Amino acid sequence: MYDISKFSIKKEPVILGIESSCDETACAVLRGRKILSDRIISSAAEQAIYGGVVPEIASRMHTEAVDEVCRLALADAGLAPGDVDCIAATYGAGLLGALLVGLSFAKAFAFALGVPFVAVNHIRGHIAAAYLDKPDLEPPFVTLLASGGHTAILHTETFNAFRVLASTSDDAAGEAFDKCARVLGLPYPGGPSVQKLAAQGRPVVKLPSALVKNSETLRFSYSGLKTAVLNTVHNARQRGEWPELADIAASFQCAAIDPLVKKTVELALKCGVKTVTAGGGVVANDYLRSTLSAACKKAGLALVLPEKRHCTDNAAMIASEGLNKYMAGEFSGLDVNAAAAIAL
Ligand code: KG4
Ligand code: ZN
Repeated sequence: MYDISKFSIKKEPVILGIESSCDETACAVLRGRKILSDRIISSAAEQAIYGGVVPEIASRMHTEAVDEVCRLALADAGLAPGDVDCIAATYGAGLLGALLVGLSFAKAFAFALGVPFVAVNHIRGHIAAAYLDKPDLEPPFVTLLASGGHTAILHTETFNAFRVLASTSDDAAGEAFDKCARVLGLPYPGGPSVQKLAAQGRPVVKLPSALVKNSETLRFSYSGLKTAVLNTVHNARQRGEWPELADIAASFQCAAIDPLVKKTVELALKCGVKTVTAGGGVVANDYLRSTLSAACKKAGLALVLPEKRHCTDNAAMIASEGLNKYMAGEFSGLDVNAAAAIAL
């Protein structure tokens, strides 16, 4: 019998977090916000052969890795399963088959241990990454979220609630980096490859900004930018020219990131918060990190920039968001299902 009304809340709980929404099988153990262990088994090398994530391969590799990654994380933490107070796992958004592996494992584990299970929204996990790097961080703050699946600016009002201030109408920023990489003939994963090439170029190619102009609401759009990169390369080749790919990469990087940075700072000032945070794989980008740092400094805003390994998918951020829900007594039933998409 698994009765969530019977669970009590401990002060410094040991939370075991599991992440399996895409191509990383990850497990981390936290005591409060302190990271005791943080393990990732990635299928990125296998996926790179195909130039992107193949869902079936991701699911199969999660199945092979989930048990091992949890054993390793517990061993690194020097703990036994019986020391765990709560299991947290991503239930969405992500690849359905991939999510189901981590979620089912986590629910069974919680049931076997007789501890609360907490289902975590992956996006909230990216926001909660900031608490790992600054454990005394408290809302309110404004977050720039930029990953492979989502791009938004969010106002986190309490540990358990946020409001969307701006988002993308089509592709996410990370998705645009991945598509741009493909057009430029760069390997998967695209973000780091574009960043590397961009470092050798200058942002001199005219490309449309990712900010939607003349819109009633603040919106970003990345599909036009991706098409502009494609057209720039094709048109040059049709003229018999060899386009300077490093300049295109540098120009794309500015067009994709500059408006995110500018609007994040503007919205933080408008909301009256004193702190900005950031999360999601694109926040591992060095140009984003340096421009956001400079812009926050200029505006007199404090910036919490999680370490790069806490920006890309990881389980410590899932455990960190799990802690927010645990402390609020927001335990999940074992009937929670995986969700490929969750509204922001
Ligand atoms: O948060 P994440 O690991 O997974 C999702 O939740 O989607 O983000 C992955 C995305 C990919 O699109 C990847 O290309 C991008 O983050 N990314 C980067 C960099 N590192 C990862 N984009 C730009 N520059 C980077 N250095
Ligand atoms: Zn993510």
